[in-house]
Amino acid sequence: MNEKLTLRRPDDWHLHLRDGAMLAAVAPASARLGRAIIMPNLVPPVVTGADAAAYRDRIRAALPAGATLTPLMTLYLTEATDPADVVAAHRAGIIAAVKLYPAGATTNSASGVRDFDRVRPVLDAMAEAGIPLCVHGEVTDPGIDIFDREAVFIDRVLDPVRRATPGLRVIMEHVTTSDGVDYVSGNDGIGATITTHHLVINRNHLLVGGIRPHYYCLPVAKRESHRLALRRAATSGDPRFFSGTDSAPHPDRAKESACGCAGCFTAPNWLPIVAQVFQDEGALDRLEGFVSLNGAAFYGLPPAEGRITLTRRDQPVSAPTHITAGDETVTVFEPGFPIHWHVEDDA
Ligand code: NCD
Ligand code: ZN
Repeated sequence: MNEKLTLRRPDDWHLHLRDGAMLAAVAPASARLGRAIIMPNLVPPVVTGADAAAYRDRIRAALPAGATLTPLMTLYLTEATDPADVVAAHRAGIIAAVKLYPAGATTNSASGVRDFDRVRPVLDAMAEAGIPLCVHGEVTDPGIDIFDREAVFIDRVLDPVRRATPGLRVIMEHVTTSDGVDYVSGNDGIGATITTHHLVINRNHLLVGGIRPHYYCLPVAKRESHRLALRRAATSGDPRFFSGTDSAPHPDRAKESACGCAGCFTAPNWLPIVAQVFQDEGALDRLEGFVSLNGAAFYGLPPAEGRITLTRRDQPVSAPTHITAGDETVTVFEPGFPIHWHVEDDA
């Protein structure tokens, strides 16, 4: 018999939709979400309220008829960000959050922050106005091993920033380590997104038996004990942890390269994969909290309108392996195990 699961319409609290032909190609995969926090790391980045409003309009224009998605826009924090522009954009309902990228940490992060003291006035104004800060939690110090960059970031940047600006609500984006999980669970006023792929892969999947560029993302997948800590956090019911796919499409040509870029494209199949993970963990009763309720509550929003139904099929469900974006192909994340969950047409 087919098992059915009806959930509030899910949200995605960390999504890259890109721009131009790539936006047109990937937007349909996220169109039936409730809300999504849209990452601002375009080239050039989305840095002002006016940039965010224009990008929001391009996203709306790219969505198919019948889309339910409300894009929640973010600003890319730079050392030149004007606190007044941030507060005005938030007050006007244009932005929902601000994104902090340490300079050089990841794809298109060259305009990010080098000296955290220089953004203190913006962070103070955000705390005052109740605007959350989304943080890419990795140091960029070349002396720090890439697998240690998240843990070191907590001590060197995240904790000092939170102490210097009490009241600032922070989301530790795409947490990948037990250190990150412990820091978030032990503190108030901080939440964390967990990606689909970090629940599924560890660094062996990336590196054993040949390098797998489609499993390369940032923060890079860590050892198995960290993946298990993420699965425990996601399925724990702790409302500080919620789903943010970090679906980050790149053309195959750019990933399958001598210097391949970081990002896993999970938008088309993330929900069936997450449902499978929760089933395997015996936690299907907590799936709705993780994908539909906890993130909204952290952002101070009601759950999204509408519901979706997932059906468990006896036979594994196949997903498309690629999509086309203009002249490019983009590979869809392959979890490496059978998926039995299928998203029915929603209402
Ligand atoms: C993201 C991208 O491609 O924009 N890549 C990734 O590996 N996650 C950037 C990011 O979120 O770090
Ligand atoms: Zn991202």
